[in-house]
Amino acid sequence: DKGNRRHFMEKEIHEQPEVISHTLANYVDFTSGISKPLDLPFDFAKIDRLALSACGTAYLSGLIGKYWFERVARLPVDIDIASEFRYREMPISKNSAALFISQSGETADTLASLRYCRKAGVPIGAIVNVRESTIARESDVVLPTLAGPEIGVASTKAFTCQLSVLASLAVRAGVARGTISTETEKVLIRALSEAPRYANQVLKLDEQIEKVARELSHYRHVLYLGRDTNFPLAMEGALKLKEISYIHAEGYAAGELKHGPIALIDENMPVIVIAPHDRIFEKTVSNMQEVAARGGKIILITDRKGAEQASVNTMETIVLPDVPEIITPIVYALPIQMLAYFTAVFMGTDVDQPRNLAKSVTVE
Ligand code: F6R
Repeated sequence: DKGNRRHFMEKEIHEQPEVISHTLANYVDFTSGISKPLDLPFDFAKIDRLALSACGTAYLSGLIGKYWFERVARLPVDIDIASEFRYREMPISKNSAALFISQSGETADTLASLRYCRKAGVPIGAIVNVRESTIARESDVVLPTLAGPEIGVASTKAFTCQLSVLASLAVRAGVARGTISTETEKVLIRALSEAPRYANQVLKLDEQIEKVARELSHYRHVLYLGRDTNFPLAMEGALKLKEISYIHAEGYAAGELKHGPIALIDENMPVIVIAPHDRIFEKTVSNMQEVAARGGKIILITDRKGAEQASVNTMETIVLPDVPEIITPIVYALPIQMLAYFTAVFMGTDVDQPRNLAKSVTVE
């Protein structure tokens, strides 16, 4: 049931404040600001590596998780897309744990990667949305995303719920490993608890984002750029756009621009830059200046401070609320989903059932 929405995807985008809150509440106690007890088959304090694997959008959530685990908990993460992970014969130390991320819990390559780790004898956790799934059954612990059924083929709410689980796990790991204090834990959990409210505010930018999407629908190629956790998000933005609007889009780390993709820049390829005002904001501003100098058109997704200090002409600037750093990937996921959605609507494509794609990929 789509409720009063035109598409499942639109409905699922709007469900995010609620399902993010629901998912977070499974892992953290908002009132006390501490992690809830969790029966893990490994101890974050005793492992020295974490292996992560998944496909598509779930993989990109894992890539953001890597930044969090390494930064907050000083825990090194090996991550690869499951179709590579399963065949590349990666050495897995006994002192590691493995996490697999899957909305459906049935993705063939992700399952094969899980079985590879099972053979290697390491404890396995599964971040899944479908509780009754093969990946859930074959793991030692199920870490559910409580997104509810996701019908649209393009993953939206499952992604932000995966991020919610990963962020709360990284905080838990940080406390266990003594890399953050219980005071910092409280600060981070308070920040997480604010994600649903900010997500709600972003949903209200729909008129502006729809206007940008109308513009975007006139182009054939789009480049997405970001640094740090906004790099995986840039790839997610490009993935969403290409899969439902069929506009060719690529996501790049902004710092890679001059190592190749800058050759593509002209007035026919808009560049969408995801850049909240963080400690590397100025670096991304330089990249935008390089784009502008070559006649590239910039769509900047930033916050108030970023908009003030961007010192570059943009085709459009989408200004999001100022949010604590740890929740930026969750909050910034929404405008890129909305951009893809509205663009696809303008293009007249089948938003919920894009051509050639299946919701669950149970074959290699
Ligand atoms: C993109 C998308 C796919 C899935 C991928 C993994 O919008 O939906 O890239 O993320 O096929 O699927 P799950 O999470 O079911 O393993």
